[in-house]
Amino acid sequence: MSLDNKTPQKVVLQSYPEGNLKQSDFAVEDCPVPDVADGSFLVRNSFVSVDPMLRIFIDKMPLGSSSMPSLPLGNVIPGAAVGEIIESRHPDFKVGEIVEGRFGWQHYAVSTGQGVVRVPASLGAIENALGIGGLPGFTAYIGLSVAGGVKEGQTVLVSGAAGAVGSAVGALVKARGGRVVGIAGGDDKKRYLLDVVGYDAVADRNAPDFNAQLAVALPNGVNVYFDNVGGPMMADVVPFMAYGGLILISGLMAQYQDPTAGSQTDNLPPVLFAVMGKGVRIQGFSQYGQDALRPAFEGEISELLASGAIQPEVHIVEGLENLPQAQVNLFEHSTTGKVVVRVA
Ligand SMILES: NC(=O)c1ccc[n+]([C@@H]2O[C@H](COP(=O)([O-])OP(=O)(O)OC[C@H]3O[C@@H](n4cnc5c(N)ncnc54)[C@H](OP(=O)(O)O)[C@@H]3O)[C@@H](O)[C@H]2O)c1
Repeated sequence: MSLDNKTPQKVVLQSYPEGNLKQSDFAVEDCPVPDVADGSFLVRNSFVSVDPMLRIFIDKMPLGSSSMPSLPLGNVIPGAAVGEIIESRHPDFKVGEIVEGRFGWQHYAVSTGQGVVRVPASLGAIENALGIGGLPGFTAYIGLSVAGGVKEGQTVLVSGAAGAVGSAVGALVKARGGRVVGIAGGDDKKRYLLDVVGYDAVADRNAPDFNAQLAVALPNGVNVYFDNVGGPMMADVVPFMAYGGLILISGLMAQYQDPTAGSQTDNLPPVLFAVMGKGVRIQGFSQYGQDALRPAFEGEISELLASGAIQPEVHIVEGLENLPQAQVNLFEHSTTGKVVVRVA
């Protein structure tokens, strides 16, 4: 086993966030390299992920209910990570294997293998295992499966389109021959979606003529709305739903910091009109528990990477101590593609 020549560290929850996330909600602490018991292995994390949904997991009362236990203060943040096995007392995992799992915001983690995925070399750079080849890409894949695949002549509309999940949805729809329209904030994200990911059209949610841009981009309406953000924007989109369309709730990014976001706008009447008048359906989904589809997902993504049809964009922040700020930035200054933090 070869360890890095510096004191291992971890990022723990220091206080339950109130309103917008702050760096001071987290603390960076020194910690020993954990012992490896029979049936487990030691991973040295290379890249650690920041994800919007972690904001829910560190709430004092996650999802506003007592059915999901809160993370105890002082516990390591349970983020996804990719790294190398450097010691193993597990019969099925070998030293040298590259694996992805919920190893947490720390330099070293011990795992029993539960929920751990071996990262195939066909995914290219190992940080892709946290982006297009990991949770965001798999979310895009599962959401499109739940929607019944990509159908000819139909339009998929995607909110949060320039983010990790949204860019994966766009790339998959285009690779499968569909039409995809994005919603993103600002010119840089619009250019990225049109020029790099291959979106057919993009509406800028910050522009004063946002609704007019949607109307131009959606002449035949929306068959599938892949919604990553929730919040008040639902009221802007619902009038564009086509007859029999599907609103797919992937995530509620706009509501994680403030569950009441959008309550100034009562979205329910226009949504109910669409449900009644156009037979629109609303459905949530999760990529958790969908492991049976993982090999097919990895196969499709590997082929698209090899052919150059997908060019993943990954922003690498350097240093474990910068994880808290990177997580805060997801909500305050989001960028294009996937954000990961290099900790090795
Ligand atoms: N269902 C599942 O199994 C599953 C799994 C993983 C993730 N998710 C969800 O998928 C969503 C996207 O995750 P991600 O990793 O792609 O996040 P991300 O990379 O941070 O991108 C999210 C995007 O949302 C947009 N956004 C942020 N705040 C917004 C607001 N108030 N109103 C409208 N748009 C806003 C931002 O784009 P603009 O500013 O450009 O609009 C940002 O690019 C999240 O809600 C996450 O929880 C679901």
